[in-house]
Amino acid sequence: MTGKSRKLVVVSNRGPYRHEATRGKERWVRSAGGLVAALDPVLQKRGGVWVSAKQAKDFDSVTVAAPHLEYDLAHITLKRTDERGFYEGVSNAVIWPVLHGFPPTIRVGDAPWSNYVNANREFAEVTLSTSGPTDLIWVQDYHLMLVPGFVRAKRAKARVGWFCHVPWPAPDTFGILPWRQEILEGLLGADLLGFHLPEYAEHFQQCVERFTPHRVSRNAIQCRSRTVKTIAAPIGVPVNDLQALAIDPDVEREVVRIRQVMGNRQLILGVDRLDYTKGIPERLAAFEGLLRQDRSARHQYALIQIMVPSRTDVKAYADLKDEIDRMVGDINGRYSETGSIPIHYLYRNLSQRALFAHYRAADVAWVTPLRDGMNLVAHEYAAARTDEDGVLVLSEFAGAAKYLKAALIVNPYDVRATTEAVHRALHMKRSEMRKRMKALRAEVMRLDVHRWADKYIAALEGA
Ligand code: F6P
Repeated sequence: MTGKSRKLVVVSNRGPYRHEATRGKERWVRSAGGLVAALDPVLQKRGGVWVSAKQAKDFDSVTVAAPHLEYDLAHITLKRTDERGFYEGVSNAVIWPVLHGFPPTIRVGDAPWSNYVNANREFAEVTLSTSGPTDLIWVQDYHLMLVPGFVRAKRAKARVGWFCHVPWPAPDTFGILPWRQEILEGLLGADLLGFHLPEYAEHFQQCVERFTPHRVSRNAIQCRSRTVKTIAAPIGVPVNDLQALAIDPDVEREVVRIRQVMGNRQLILGVDRLDYTKGIPERLAAFEGLLRQDRSARHQYALIQIMVPSRTDVKAYADLKDEIDRMVGDINGRYSETGSIPIHYLYRNLSQRALFAHYRAADVAWVTPLRDGMNLVAHEYAAARTDEDGVLVLSEFAGAAKYLKAALIVNPYDVRATTEAVHRALHMKRSEMRKRMKALRAEVMRLDVHRWADKYIAALEGA
């Protein structure tokens, strides 16, 4: 059977779009986050089905034009208790921090594991009823690590893949999970397990070796009569579409407006979901370091920090929001002059057009997570800079740093070194800036999301 004749069935917790119809008013909203940014263009090109959970209303979201979808949407409605326990209680409060190497935000023993199991079983049921025996089933991310096993139990010959959009830590970190073996066995129901970096795939294999009886060899795990392969396949962005957007006349007009309202200051841009993995307090402290250097700095530089609301019902996220609000208020209170504010803080989701105008207007993109599977903001910034201007300051703990080596790479925990790197970025000679941006753009093109999907899907078909 050829690749084209197999239907692709993508399964993820968060779907690409939400449709609302209240009192005769229709509204479409596109989800935030790297997973949707990557998979939507892939399914638009290839067709297929996207199975996802019906999402509750976001705290803040941008209305988009009704999308012309080249693929079908299938929705799962979870029981209310399962939905909360699965998403907030286990996925967000325990698994997310553990996979990023942070302590869980609740006591692990209190986590409602049965809700995670029930929700995964429900996803598997809907996936089975939405797909045929020869279809390619591609499960996404840490919310759904039991789905491959549940699908395999019902359909022994299914072709199932799973992709990890976050880091995978070493066994000592992963091993704190009481359900470690259950999770690994669930994943081993797949034929192919994908990771952004070879390092994450190696960590996964070490976990299998430590916590299961299965035999591990290079890029393969012998699991009873089946062989499960692992693959490092770094994700990217749809470069052509984004480049076209970056030079759209509406975007250009918005760039001019942003530059005008910001005066003649150099602009530094941060774009993140509000998450403790993103290193936002450390960044604010490093920016304050820049302002402290000399009195003229406040007239020379401005930081535009776009923060997309995320997981607002989880306490750790609400606490972080309070800390950031306080820091921004404090720094602005201290360094503002009438008519000139150092930090422009936008706590909302921007339209893609507005976001790309900010990428084009920014002299420096400041992407410094404390830990990140890949980080597609770094890719998007380079894709947007068709003019080959701009400098990327990138955390060594983002997966992207393994590929985007022409960025200024920093340790975000080292606040003083980060201040220095941003200062260097702001004063970089044009020739060096161009050389670096050219190299970044070449790498981002090489890592195009369609290549990522083609590579993964070809491997899954061959698995
Ligand atoms: O890969 C991480 C991810 O699942 C991405 O979709 C996105 O970056 C983020 O987490 C979204 O999280 P949530 O679905 O909880 O908003």
